[in-house]
Amino acid sequence: MRVRRLRAREFRTYARLDVALGTGLTVVHGRNGAGKTNLLEALYFGCTGRSCRTSNEREVVRFGAQATHVDLDLCDADGVEHTLSVGFEPGEPKRLKADGAEVERLLDVPARPLVSVFLPDRLELVKGPPSLRRAHLDQVIAAAWPARAQTRRAYGQAVAQRNALLARIRTGRASRASLPAWDAEVARHGVSLRDHRAEACALLADPYAQAAEDLGLSGTSVLRYRPRTDAPDAAALAAELAERVDGDLDRGFTGHGPHRDEIVLQRDGRELRAYGSQGEQRMGLLALLLAEREALAEARGALPLLLLDDVMSELDPVRRAKLALRLDGPGQSVITTTDLAHVPGADAGSVCRIAVRDGAALVEPGGGGGMRFRRVPRPLGTAVEALTAELAPLTGLASVQRAWPDAVGPAIAAQAEPVAEQGGEVTVRCRSAVWAQEVELMGPALVAALNASIGTERVRSLRCTAGAGRPGDRRNR
Ligand SMILES: Nc1ncnc2c1ncn2[C@@H]1O[C@H](COP(=O)(O)OP(=O)(O)O)[C@@H](O)[C@H]1O
Ligand SMILES: [Mg+2]
Repeated sequence: MRVRRLRAREFRTYARLDVALGTGLTVVHGRNGAGKTNLLEALYFGCTGRSCRTSNEREVVRFGAQATHVDLDLCDADGVEHTLSVGFEPGEPKRLKADGAEVERLLDVPARPLVSVFLPDRLELVKGPPSLRRAHLDQVIAAAWPARAQTRRAYGQAVAQRNALLARIRTGRASRASLPAWDAEVARHGVSLRDHRAEACALLADPYAQAAEDLGLSGTSVLRYRPRTDAPDAAALAAELAERVDGDLDRGFTGHGPHRDEIVLQRDGRELRAYGSQGEQRMGLLALLLAEREALAEARGALPLLLLDDVMSELDPVRRAKLALRLDGPGQSVITTTDLAHVPGADAGSVCRIAVRDGAALVEPGGGGGMRFRRVPRPLGTAVEALTAELAPLTGLASVQRAWPDAVGPAIAAQAEPVAEQGGEVTVRCRSAVWAQEVELMGPALVAALNASIGTERVRSLRCTAGAGRPGDRRNR
């Protein structure tokens, strides 16, 4: 599900807002206070019916206005169009519509893009209590495996029923004899929920560690599931519940089970939650969102709309390039920045750019809304490539060119191509000076990837040039 167009009225700084988004990356740029975060918030508001920024929602209504409206035009994977709309007047119930029909909650609407949002000053997910991380993980599970959303609801209901029964037993209105039936019910759903969470965390663990490393979170980053119970099956969990019933009766609620799980984010063996600096927590959060995106892509082929507010300013150029590469893949993302130069590849034809200024947002011409990603034509066509593969040994340049797309990934391959090789130095022609600089910075990593792919230490260094280059560069020297 993709957002094609965002329209809003009387939302924060915007009297009127009407912008088309790119199919891949959209970059929103403007000076501080111009309304960049407001635009992201409007998108989030349109997708979910809630603000990602404040719990006091009347803040989103433009100063002096009575009510605000946000409308989204969407397009699903089959090209079918959908709409979502949110009308909000403080003091009144929200008016939520999906495809023109009123709905109670947008979260239940199937034709809704999943959204994942990074705001530098909203670190609750990392810093806050375990319940926030559990709820978040359960949302990821529901997104990756929709049929599993039911398990969490069923578990929550079973625990609530058991708690109600505990209260009645305490006041002498029920007997303990009725507990085992609820223990069994809690245990049945509890074991499934625990297994789903374990599976999701296992899927997230490697991408999280990798994303954290890419983003420059120093030390070893770990995402680990810490379940409250290791019970092998429902009967064992029911037995654990029965063992603890006296404590539960003292407290008046169920103290054991997956509602006490934790999803641990650690750096060098210590919890980010307690010991991480603000910057480390930010990177942890961003790594988590990126890992989820990968896990969702793998589980379902559906990528959430990723909203990243002002994240580039916190990263050095190498990390910026690495993040830009991740955003350049499939899936839609919107990133805000004060400085376009901080977003490597922002000038590419595939990227949609929105300039924000004086309460207005303008899509810049030439941006990639709706446009397919243009690839640099590779000098060797596929047929020729197959042929050269048989004419071993390959020339230096040919083997580099053949290994290039896999070694560097599609995002770089679309922006930069090897055009010459001499004595281990590969000349790489890049589509812009910014990309030349980024590829240069990633040089050692790319050299290692290329050599691993070719199978010899043939490549020693990369020399990056920007622009069309001389035709003679194409020849192997
Ligand atoms: N309800 C509102 N009505 C009008 N302006 C608002 C409202 N809420 C915030 N603002 C203004 O929005 C501006 C900040 O916009 P923001 O999107 O956070 O900027 P940035 O481009 O730095 O992300 C501030 O000038 C603030 O006064
Ligand atoms: Mg901002």
